[in-house]
Amino acid sequence: MGGFAAEHHNAILKLEMEGECRLVCTCDPKIGTFSDRWEDLRFDMRMVKLFNNLRDMLTTCGRDLDLVTIPTPVPLHASMHQACCERGLAVYLEKPPTLDPRELQTMLRAEQQARKLTNVGFNFIIEPHRQMLKQHLVSGRFGAVKEVRVFARWPRGSNYYTRNDWAGKLMLGNQLVLDSCLGNAMAHLVQNGLYWAEAHALDDFGEVTDAQAELYRIHPIQGTDTVFLTAQIADGPVLRVAMTHACMGEAREYEEVICEGATITTKTGSDAENGHYRDFLVTFPDGKTKNARQQNYHHLTENLRAYLQYVRGERERPVTRLVDSRPFVNLNGLAYLAAQHITAVTGDHVQWGQAPGPLNGKVAQLQGFDAIAERFLFSGAFPSQQDAPWAIPGGRATLTDLPQLPEVVARMVG
Ligand SMILES: NC(=O)c1ccc[n+]([C@@H]2O[C@H](COP(=O)([O-])OP(=O)(O)OC[C@H]3O[C@@H](n4cnc5c(N)ncnc54)[C@H](O)[C@@H]3O)[C@@H](O)[C@H]2O)c1
Repeated sequence: MGGFAAEHHNAILKLEMEGECRLVCTCDPKIGTFSDRWEDLRFDMRMVKLFNNLRDMLTTCGRDLDLVTIPTPVPLHASMHQACCERGLAVYLEKPPTLDPRELQTMLRAEQQARKLTNVGFNFIIEPHRQMLKQHLVSGRFGAVKEVRVFARWPRGSNYYTRNDWAGKLMLGNQLVLDSCLGNAMAHLVQNGLYWAEAHALDDFGEVTDAQAELYRIHPIQGTDTVFLTAQIADGPVLRVAMTHACMGEAREYEEVICEGATITTKTGSDAENGHYRDFLVTFPDGKTKNARQQNYHHLTENLRAYLQYVRGERERPVTRLVDSRPFVNLNGLAYLAAQHITAVTGDHVQWGQAPGPLNGKVAQLQGFDAIAERFLFSGAFPSQQDAPWAIPGGRATLTDLPQLPEVVARMVG
């Protein structure tokens, strides 16, 4: 009901009004605390049945369901996904499916019991301009992809990190969580990077062979909130990612795809005239440019609509299958294996501020992040190679190191 699940309810109500689906039931352990929302969402009139746990909901309503959406805490995804798949139900699972590569294997096995493949809710892959440009990459129109760069600064502060028991955690008991800017909030952008980096087939994502990383912690959390990561894609380009939650002010992000015959750049923004928009700019070597603007696209609604079409048999496959998230889950794991430690940055290198809202509260800003990140994306020089006073060199890891992930993360927890 709460957190991002609230957005699922809004989108499902809209789709129900369009005749695409009907909400049968919902559950949340704190279901009683959401009574205002029951009214907003007209649960009475829609005859939505309410439960405080998934097992009871599936036992009572399972036979009436075609699909279940799972917008719950990431550490619960695997067991909830399994409970639905065991009943044959189709699942729209929020990203990331899990951040434990072993758990992903178990989930892929569980998926085989369902009548339909699972969709993972990476928001942006469905965007029509993105798909069209990927088609151009696949056709070779822009030449080979040489480099993919992802920059993102999305401020998140104390309210975000204290909203539940798993935010910013590396582990919960014995369970690998690895919640971070890379693994969770901005995972979408990393998945976009992997989408651009595999130019052999429209729906494929780049398989990472090895990675180098430096991980930093600015907020007082167990995990990382500032990531510099370089990944080599099998039979493909280098992917570089620089992202942080330790920043203030406007969120900003961009992707750059450097090809032999063109550069694709995405830029997002919002203003009174255009609403929320994303520009897809293609620049050719002769300086000519082409721009396509996407405006007020409601990603969750369109992703759910596409999945409903797939479940009804009107669409060939989910937009992002569970197996399509394996390169991302591996890359996230490799970041920890490569870095080997998370460096805490404190003192004069950090500025603290206060901002309202559920994502903010007390917010830290890493001084100089934007400039260091831009140089890293352009040249490949990590903060430690740029002599950033707070930086400590990381290392390199390959896919064969992946089984060591639990041990390395347990050492980080200390
Ligand atoms: N696609 C996006 O743009 C987007 C944005 C934000 C979050 N997410 C994803 O949504 C998921 C949820 O994230 P969040 O930050 O909203 O989590 P959260 O911790 O805020 O929890 C969301 C809701 O799940 C409920 N919940 C907890 N345990 C439950 C249980 N056992 N059964 C049923 N409900 C339970 C909580 O009470 C809460 O109402 C994550 O996978 C996250 O990555 C996606």
